[in-house]
Amino acid sequence: MSEPDRVLVIIPTYDERENIELIVARVLTSVPHAHVLVVDDGSPDGTGKVADAMAEADERVHVMHRTTKNGLGAAYIAGFGWGLAEGFDVLVEMDADGSHAPEQLHRLLGALDSADVVLGSRWVPGGSVVNWPRRRKLLSLGGNLYTRMALGIELKDATGGYRAYKRTVLESMDYASVASQGYCFQVDLTRRALDGGFRVIEVPITFVERERGESKMSGEIVREAFWRVTQWGMAYRGAQLRALRGKRS
Ligand code: GDD
Ligand code: MN
Repeated sequence: MSEPDRVLVIIPTYDERENIELIVARVLTSVPHAHVLVVDDGSPDGTGKVADAMAEADERVHVMHRTTKNGLGAAYIAGFGWGLAEGFDVLVEMDADGSHAPEQLHRLLGALDSADVVLGSRWVPGGSVVNWPRRRKLLSLGGNLYTRMALGIELKDATGGYRAYKRTVLESMDYASVASQGYCFQVDLTRRALDGGFRVIEVPITFVERERGESKMSGEIVREAFWRVTQWGMAYRGAQLRALRGKRS
């Protein structure tokens, strides 16, 4: 039998002291051979210290301390760099607040057998969202619809933050140059993976809204996403037009 893939679950945190212990424990119970990297942006509530204590107690837990809150995208980029350097085969993105159930991680990892990137999807049959206000549902559905139309992609949940990448995907893209800071980071990586010719598939997940702590979603994050997706869409549609004209002349 071959060795199982070395899996790293990256969890970015900002003020998640009430959530971090439980989520790490759930990951390690669900997938005992996985390692966890907490990427904390100097949370004022002391999340980093709680994570350090867990790392002391379990060699599968690692912590990266950053000094300023730079957004989820920057935290993942730093985490990917560490994970690739440490030789992990699979890099997983997961929120700290329990919205992404570690008990469903095996679905994502299993689907990597026939794909390079697996998206945990709220908006495919079997997927769902629990306890989200109507406003958040509409924002996610609208954001995904706009993304599909602008970029000409089929995926139902390209904005989601529960996903697994094979290391080859990240190695092949210049992910460190990704400027997206907020949640559009997810769309950015999806589109880069597709552009790179990698196979991206979706598996259903049950997304449960957090019970403790607060979402970091903001108007700023929504505006950044809308602006960037529009720019990528215009570049994509422009290239399509040029190709069409080229064929005609
Ligand atoms: N290190 C760090 N720095 N972590 C951050 C930052 C930051 O600036 N901002 C957010 N996080 C962490 C949170 O602590 C949490 O673990 C995770 O990123 C997700 O943040 P939430 O604030 O809980 O996000 P959400 O529930 O509103 O949004 C979710 O759904 C979006 C799409 O609808 C996330 O899964 C997003 O990734 C996703 O795009
Ligand atoms: Mn959340």
